[in-house]
Amino acid sequence: MQIIREINALRRAIAAVRGEGGSVALVPTMGALHAGHLKLVREARRLARHVVASIFVNPMQFGPGEDLSSYPRREAEDAQMLEAEGCAILWAPSVDVMYRQGHATKIGVSGVSAGLDGDARPGHFEGVATVVVKLFNQVQPDIAVFGEKDFQQLVVIRRMTADLDLPVQIVGVPTQRDADGLALSSRNAYLTAEERRCARTLPRVLLEAAQAIREGGDIAEALARARQALAAAGFEPIDYIELRDAETLEPWTNINRPARILAAAKIGRTRLIDNIPILPAIRGS
Ligand code: PAF
Repeated sequence: MQIIREINALRRAIAAVRGEGGSVALVPTMGALHAGHLKLVREARRLARHVVASIFVNPMQFGPGEDLSSYPRREAEDAQMLEAEGCAILWAPSVDVMYRQGHATKIGVSGVSAGLDGDARPGHFEGVATVVVKLFNQVQPDIAVFGEKDFQQLVVIRRMTADLDLPVQIVGVPTQRDADGLALSSRNAYLTAEERRCARTLPRVLLEAAQAIREGGDIAEALARARQALAAAGFEPIDYIELRDAETLEPWTNINRPARILAAAKIGRTRLIDNIPILPAIRGS
């Protein structure tokens, strides 16, 4: 696997793999890889001949007071894992390479970026959309693979890709979970043992609420019960726990359409997000 840090070198490497024929899939990450990321890489390998992974901790998507400086960085270990999974190229630019001096462009995706994490983390999705467009332009993949754990992010990226006619197929991969149901996340490393024990309440209450809603229970009541259970387990603040249309992220009104329950809450100093489908998720794009 080649580890590449400069744009011209990346372009040459992509031209070389393109010369071998077959399609290219991109797996964008911020590193600190876990089994959830490796699942994305495996899906990318299943769909394309060549896999490019990127590691870039994107300052533009972190707000003031968020964990940009403490975000886990372990590129050497990550590179070994990616190589073992058969990645052809690791694209790992520095901040200066990604955002050259004078960088002044941001991509805003209105509608789906509003509410939920868009409210809790102002500017976050502009940062995500901007870096993802840049990654697409740099790598020029046929396919890009993202986890469903960051569900609003996936919806924002699908919207942006469609709106800008980007020739990239967006693939969403279901969330990888620990045995107790907690969604894998690089930020789980921040949890103390006690917080880790409490954290499993999050997927449990989402599953219970989803079950109640599937069985025709009152939506507001199911979400209020879930909120109470999270508060009782020590989550504070609870940024949101909401049921939304899985494609538009608008409030869910049409029971024939797929929906998601999405939640974000803090346990101690760690903010966790998770989501559960009510009807089968929309896959591919
Ligand atoms: O999901 C992530 O790891 C990041 O938000 C992404 C898509 C790599 C953009 O920085």
